[in-house]
Amino acid sequence: MTRSTERPAVTTPPTTDLADATALRHQLADQLAAAGHIRTPAVDHALRTVPRHAFAPEVPLHTAYANDIVATRHSDDGTVISSISAPWLQADMLEAARIQPDHRVLEIGSGGYNATLLAELVGPNGHVTTLDIDPAVTDRAARFLAQTGYDHVRVVTADAEHLPAGVVPDGGFDAIVVTVDTWDLPWIDALAEGGRLVAPLRLHGYHWAIGFTKDEGALHSDESPIVCGFVAMQGAGAWHTNRRTVPGTGVHLSWEDGTPLPVDQLATALAHEPTVTRTHITVGGQEPFDALTLYLAGALPGFCRLEVDPDGGNGVLNPPPKHWPGAAIVRGDSLARLATERLGDGDDGNGLYEFVLHGHGTHGHLAAQEMAEQVRHWQRNHRGALCPRITARPAASCAPAATDHEPHVFTKNYTRITVDWPIVPGTAALLTDRGSCNAG
Ligand SMILES: C[S@@+](CC[C@H](N)C(=O)[O-])C[C@H]1O[C@@H](n2cnc3c(N)ncnc32)[C@H](O)[C@@H]1O
Repeated sequence: MTRSTERPAVTTPPTTDLADATALRHQLADQLAAAGHIRTPAVDHALRTVPRHAFAPEVPLHTAYANDIVATRHSDDGTVISSISAPWLQADMLEAARIQPDHRVLEIGSGGYNATLLAELVGPNGHVTTLDIDPAVTDRAARFLAQTGYDHVRVVTADAEHLPAGVVPDGGFDAIVVTVDTWDLPWIDALAEGGRLVAPLRLHGYHWAIGFTKDEGALHSDESPIVCGFVAMQGAGAWHTNRRTVPGTGVHLSWEDGTPLPVDQLATALAHEPTVTRTHITVGGQEPFDALTLYLAGALPGFCRLEVDPDGGNGVLNPPPKHWPGAAIVRGDSLARLATERLGDGDDGNGLYEFVLHGHGTHGHLAAQEMAEQVRHWQRNHRGALCPRITARPAASCAPAATDHEPHVFTKNYTRITVDWPIVPGTAALLTDRGSCNAG
């Protein structure tokens, strides 16, 4: 989530800037095509046609056409609660949605600009509905859509958790594009059979934008997810981090999926130096390993995400997880967590690291070994896979999971999400980038 306390002044670009805007728009589209985010003529045409700056009058032209988000609304504490998403991500998600002329499309999370791209894709006989919980966002979107000639886009103010009567067309939408971080997928019934749903789905706090096709009432992913971050879902679908603080340590553990475990007794465990279990499995300094952490989240009961106060907590966690929460498991009064240890510069000069497991507490070494075994299992069997197959079935149609902790099943309110890792050993990928799974 991006935080900012500064709000840019509202300025309307003078008409003399229009030629500049067109040039900047084509420059941006060229850049997105060269980087592989634009892959079809239809998406290319949409991005070259719609005046993005008309939906972001508060920022200068070059900012509107930068390959970055434009924050448009903040909460009182400065958190961004609405934005125009980054163009690379919009292009990737539009491509993943596979929108065709005449389609009926629902956009969840509004702003106006992305809805116009959708309107270009569906053409004059298609239909786009854009829906947002925040009336200030829908007011603004409706105004800009009218000013730019896209007033045929239907704008609805509602909590997406419960789509209002009359919004869903007979037979369902051909595509649903969700542009807000979501913990669940309550929209399966609103999607036509064979339709596409693209959503940034949270699994234990990891979020990937995933493209699904609806087949026999379930959603099936069939291409690499996009690593991305969106503003948080508000309303009835807002998720709970289930965050617990280990007393006196500055260490926080979150069970966004799964049942929180007691943490008070971990204070003693964290007061001592950890055991270190080596895996001999390496990772490059610029190589993302979110696939491994998602794998661990599904494979290990008691999995949680660990973060430390910015001042470094109690100093025992060395190195503390930076940038985003790390992977950990709790076993009674003990805890293990995934860390990396620098081995050297690596071939590319970005550093070469080894995955190691730190164990805290009386059984910490056993928890660390348990985690290390799963890291090795992932390396042996799944690291070479670009991404897992993810399936979302309506919860009502599924037998309940045997336990809260059944591996690789994430039980949500409306859906049961299965993460299925294809067997592709990691030998070739040992020191190299895993490719487009981490395009973000
Ligand atoms: C990233 S912005 C949407 C970006 C937009 N699609 C664009 O043109 O780039 C996410 C939006 O989701 C909205 N939102 C958050 N929770 C929601 C909910 N429960 N139902 C509908 N909209 C929601 C926010 O108000 C925010 O405007």
